[in-house]
Amino acid sequence: MSRGEERIVAASDGAARQVVGRVVVCVGTDLVDVDDIRALLARQPRFADRHFTPGESAYCLLENDPAERFAVRFAAKEAVLKALGTGLSGSALREIEVVRGHSGPPALALAGRAAALAEAAGVHSWLITLTHSRHLAYAFVAGVGQPS
Ligand SMILES: CC(C)(COP(=O)(O)OP(=O)(O)OC[C@H]1O[C@@H](n2cnc3c(N)ncnc32)[C@H](O)[C@@H]1OP(=O)(O)O)[C@@H](O)C(=O)NCCC(=O)NCCS
Repeated sequence: MSRGEERIVAASDGAARQVVGRVVVCVGTDLVDVDDIRALLARQPRFADRHFTPGESAYCLLENDPAERFAVRFAAKEAVLKALGTGLSGSALREIEVVRGHSGPPALALAGRAAALAEAAGVHSWLITLTHSRHLAYAFVAGVGQPS
């Protein structure tokens, strides 16, 4: 048992104990140019429907200029594919969804082939953080689970 695991086992909090045996098995990151996404949204009417779930589009379209939110979600999807080691051919981007409530942190939900790839990689859950400005959108993800 590593020193870190000893500290977690010693904690009386149940949620902390659930962490035992789980490790970060993969990470992925991506930086997207928001102007590129703005241009794609303007030029390709089906761009949003092709790559984003209805829930993602609805959240992005709450903004007058939805490009930043679409861009950071595109970055998140690419970051997941990097973490899974597949690249863009690995799964449809729509199978990787950034879920948001009205407030609080974002989360990832995978479906279809993306979910199968994650399971095969031993990923049980994901950590995700996003940031975006008018020009740049950045995502970092970590797959947590047990190495397969
Ligand atoms: C979260 C927060 C720091 C974002 O900072 P920002 O510089 O405005 O924006 P960024 O571009 O860096 O980050 C935006 C992204 O942060 C993420 N985010 C939002 N709330 C978050 C939270 N509580 N924790 C982690 N990430 C959060 C979202 O993914 C958001 O992007 P999205 O709206 O496209 O999904 C800011 O909105 C904030 O301080 N919110 C209040 C947080 C809070 O919990 N307050 C207590 C309630 S009183």
